[in-house]
Amino acid sequence: MRVILLGAPGAGKGTQAQFIMEKYGIPQISTGDMLRAAVKAGTPLGQEAKKVMDAGGLVSDDIIIGLVQERITEPDCANGFLFDGFPRTIPQAQALVDAGITIDAVVELDVDDAEIIERLSGRRVHPASGRVYHLKYNPPKVPGKDDVTGDDLVLRDDDREETVRKRLEIYQQQTRPLVGFYQELARQDAAAAPAYIRVEGLGPMDEIRRRIFEGLDNR
Ligand code: AP5
Ligand code: ZN
Repeated sequence: MRVILLGAPGAGKGTQAQFIMEKYGIPQISTGDMLRAAVKAGTPLGQEAKKVMDAGGLVSDDIIIGLVQERITEPDCANGFLFDGFPRTIPQAQALVDAGITIDAVVELDVDDAEIIERLSGRRVHPASGRVYHLKYNPPKVPGKDDVTGDDLVLRDDDREETVRKRLEIYQQQTRPLVGFYQELARQDAAAAPAYIRVEGLGPMDEIRRRIFEGLDNR
């Protein structure tokens, strides 16, 4: 199965991706995690991406499309994959169509801005695995430590409030239009277009997980 997880910064894409990966046995492909790995490794791409990410902007479509196209040729993608944070512009979505990469479902997580600010200010992450915690809503078993490895958890550089506001603005301008893009695909050819599953993203994490599974199982 091939799934796109769509939603604003902090909507819960990374959180729900862990559940979807486990249940359907498909790898999570988070372009954000891939870029953060490049930043950490200090590669030329990472150095370039860091400036853009810290300002809350988007990395160029060509770079992202290249990264994703390479990633999905890896053996673990043979039975499908879960895109988290990709596509997030119309050209990125169009690149999938042009490359003949079909998608089974788009899951949109819908969350309002006030909740997002609250979620991102309390977020802590384990960079190596992409596991996500929240100081209040999803605390680790040992404060400040990853549940599985015991490594230190960190704050993301782009989770400062003014950067979050910029990311939300960019989301509205550049990523929100994907909703219309996928609706239009369905109108043109319902059989070939991905199923569009809109999920209310407010509420307990396991309830949202249930809503997503229900949508994917009954698509
Ligand atoms: P990316 O890493 O994709 O960030 P994002 O889209 O801004 O999304 P987040 O990771 O911030 O949020 P999330 O939806 O995963 O929420 P999470 O589950 O962590 O991208 C980062 C940057 O990289 C971009 O700004 C851009 O510069 C660049 N980039 C990436 N992809 C790109 C692309 N395709 N093109 C161009 N540039 C690209 O949850 C958030 C918090 O809330 C956590 O603390 C969690 O524990 C908590 N939480 C989750 N669910 C709930 C719940 N139900 N109730 C209460 N709390 C909850
Ligand atoms: Zn994420």
